Amino acid sequence: MNVPLYEKLWMWASGVLIVAFLTTVAIGVASSALQPPSHVETIDPAKVWTDPRFTARGVTVDSAGVTVVAVAIMFAFNPAELRVPAHRPIKFRLTSADVTHGFQIVGTNANTMVVPGYVSEFTTSFDRPGEYLIVCNEYCGLSHHVMSGKLIVEEARP
Ligand code: CUA
Repeated sequence: MNVPLYEKLWMWASGVLIVAFLTTVAIGVASSALQPPSHVETIDPAKVWTDPRFTARGVTVDSAGVTVVAVAIMFAFNPAELRVPAHRPIKFRLTSADVTHGFQIVGTNANTMVVPGYVSEFTTSFDRPGEYLIVCNEYCGLSHHVMSGKLIVEEARP
């Protein structure tokens, strides 16, 4: 078969790309990167409600800083409303009591998967006070689309 050189080059280029992508995936799997984008901390998803790390849900402010602890479950976040101060680092600690959920605060850089069996943790801060929508961005069941929460960022009082 007579294949023009130009087409051959494109065929080779796309072949190289496919191999490059598969290599990336293989390296990711081999280095055990299949977990939420976070440190590795495990939890028994059946005992989330009684686990001492998740019994005090909500926002805690102490000398260590501001921490948000929440559980994702079909089809809600518990607690559904979070009130945090602006301009301060907020540490989020999340887990799931059933299936994989997402936790995305719309209009901010806060976005993580919430995977049963793991604690997802990330720290971010919010400079604009106001109300933010929290959505689940991983399909988790029939009512996935109604799974939402609210984050209220408040200006610190003088
Ligand atoms: Cu939870 Cu989608």
